[in-house]
Amino acid sequence: MIVSDTATATLAGQGGRPTERVPGVSIPPQYDPIAQDYEQWVVPKFRPVAEALVKAAAVSPSEHVIEVGAGTGGLSRLILARLGPTGTLTVTDVSHAMLEIAERVLASLVPPGNGRGPRLTVTEADLTSLPVSDGAFDLLVSQFTPLLDGPAGLREALRVLRPGGRLAAAVWGGSYTERALLKAVRLEAGAPPYPDESVSVTATRIREAGFEEVRHRSVWLSVVHDTAKTYLAYRAAFGVPPAWSPEQASRYADTLTRRVEAIAPDGESVVLDWQVVLFTAFRAELV
Ligand SMILES: C[S@@+](CC[C@H](N)C(=O)[O-])C[C@H]1O[C@@H](n2cnc3c(N)ncnc32)[C@H](O)[C@@H]1O
Repeated sequence: MIVSDTATATLAGQGGRPTERVPGVSIPPQYDPIAQDYEQWVVPKFRPVAEALVKAAAVSPSEHVIEVGAGTGGLSRLILARLGPTGTLTVTDVSHAMLEIAERVLASLVPPGNGRGPRLTVTEADLTSLPVSDGAFDLLVSQFTPLLDGPAGLREALRVLRPGGRLAAAVWGGSYTERALLKAVRLEAGAPPYPDESVSVTATRIREAGFEEVRHRSVWLSVVHDTAKTYLAYRAAFGVPPAWSPEQASRYADTLTRRVEAIAPDGESVVLDWQVVLFTAFRAELV
């Protein structure tokens, strides 16, 4: 039976991308206003990434799994499908609106009362401060969240995993055509540059947080958007980083529109590739 247990914790430091935050300044979540658009435009495009990550995570039916920054639950729904009656899935994010969609979709996959599904918990939580006990999980997963951006999220991941528990996370790679396009748009529009980081720096940070057997591999995907208009709808569904001024956001949107319409005039499709890096790591067993 699915038990959906949505907590409403008060959270510190909410926001979209900590790497773009102003320290100590309280800012609203980036994703609340666009949750429905995110579910419509982004989740279907991210599906191949979620499939690759679930495979890399090697989920077993009876495991206790937590997802951080789960958004509307695009990855969670694939994990739920892998879990049996004794498995559990805890779905967390800072955005109330994103989690509302996740909860609705996930509950519809295993209706309450059928007695056979895994237990599901949906909880608002910052990934640096999870309201769960030490060592409670076999596996922590994350797809395109700030988990690997700094030590705080990684320390928290280590805390909530049992000895021998696993981390599996997908992050964007450093060099692919869509990234080159968006970097050029940011530069031209005077928006903050992408925070660039090499895979080896991220791997070192994971190790320094206390994880072992840190591995990574790249997955390359070719993504087709039907027209410039549908690509722009997809991009808009990520919202605007809270640290950006309205002028920056508007210049960015105008510049992106002009460049994408130049790539795909007259209703042509927009084809861009992605490099996604899948990290896996273990919390050491107790000796
Ligand atoms: C790009 S979306 C990815 C959502 C989902 N993992 C997916 O792949 O579709 C980033 C998500 O991370 C969440 N997020 C950002 N900062 C967070 C934090 N500090 N703690 C928890 N969630 C966070 C956002 O609210 C958003 O839902």
